[in-house]
Amino acid sequence: MTKGDILLRVEHLRAYYASKKGLVRAVDDVSFEIREGECLGLLGESGCGKSSLALAIVGLFEKIARFRAGTANVPGLVKQFDKGEAYEERPGVQGRVFLRDIELTALPDDEMAKLRGKLISLIPQGLQHALNPQYSIGYQTGEPVEAHEEDVRLIELKRRVLEYLGLVSLADAETRFVLDPSSFSGGEAQRILIAMSLIAGPQLVIADEPTSALDVTIQRQIMNVLAMVRDEFDISLILISHDAGVIAEMADRVAVMYAGKIMELGDAKQMFLNPGHPYTQGLMSSFPTIMMMRMRAGGKRPVLRGIPGDPPDLADVPSGCPFHPRCQFATEICKEEVPEYREVEPGHFVRCHRYEELKQEKGA
Ligand SMILES: Nc1ncnc2c1ncn2[C@@H]1O[C@H](COP(=O)(O)OP(=O)(O)OP(=O)(O)O)[C@@H](O)[C@H]1O
Ligand code: SF4
Ligand SMILES: [Mg+2]
Repeated sequence: MTKGDILLRVEHLRAYYASKKGLVRAVDDVSFEIREGECLGLLGESGCGKSSLALAIVGLFEKIARFRAGTANVPGLVKQFDKGEAYEERPGVQGRVFLRDIELTALPDDEMAKLRGKLISLIPQGLQHALNPQYSIGYQTGEPVEAHEEDVRLIELKRRVLEYLGLVSLADAETRFVLDPSSFSGGEAQRILIAMSLIAGPQLVIADEPTSALDVTIQRQIMNVLAMVRDEFDISLILISHDAGVIAEMADRVAVMYAGKIMELGDAKQMFLNPGHPYTQGLMSSFPTIMMMRMRAGGKRPVLRGIPGDPPDLADVPSGCPFHPRCQFATEICKEEVPEYREVEPGHFVRCHRYEELKQEKGA
């Protein structure tokens, strides 16, 4: 396997929750690929399905959905067809995820558990729930190794735990690794989670909002740690955030998600400087960092615009293009037909009926 080969392939992935209001279409026909050594930024407003996508990829969606689900009120198994692709209106995960040539979505839970941490790992969102308050951070950091190497000796395990805690620059790791999570700050807990995600040697790490609960100085430190581990281990990374500034720090390509769907995916520079999709345009214009980036690249004086209205309830997604109630370019077709996700230029994917037309108007 050489750098640049495809590491992860996601095909028509759907992940639906059951709720009192009906099906929550948190991930709705998502397809993309990630190459060896690449960092893909996953950006979108709160509630658009980023964490659900991460959970579906690592095989934890159904476990978490069952744990958190309320009373189910969902339609029966209705077979649907989307551009020839068959799926069912039901809770759970559908579609396919491949890590190299292993089809993760076809593995039974116990087989998938053996790969988690070793080939693919998730740094979960929400520091407060990610570490178990009952166990020392040293024990928890070593857990992924124990899960995959049953005969690892205690002395070797301790050496590795300290090596990885040192790598993420956890202060006084040698003396503090016996303490429980309550003795660590938010920034330190995030470092511990990064160490834990790396210790069993995965090739792909998904970091879900790794900086969102932290103040600006600590955010910077955590981004530096992520940049360092990416170089050191040559891993592929999916960096999830609702903040385009965080994604801009590291991503090679960016996927923009809205109402459970990827709306645009392309080269990071293009997505920040010259986005094509109306939603991406609105989203990017909400971030001062991105507007300053554009100005430095020779653009006009930045105007922060944002997007009027709120993202939809994913149990009641608008018909047609889910963005149409907030889109200034919406026409009749946008209200009626779900736009196809298509490659409009090599490596540039867009879900919009009017992409070419709007591009021409913009250029004119
Ligand atoms: N267990 C559950 N049952 C029903 N709906 C759920 C459940 N968990 C999440 N959801 C809904 O699924 C949708 C997607 O949630 P998700 O957490 O994936 O979004 P997100 O993009 O990660 O948001 P954030 O930026 O706030 O982390 C939301 O509408 C959320 O309310
Ligand atoms: S399909 Fe229509 S509503 Fe959706 S983004 Fe494109 S122009 Fe706007
Ligand atoms: Mg989330």
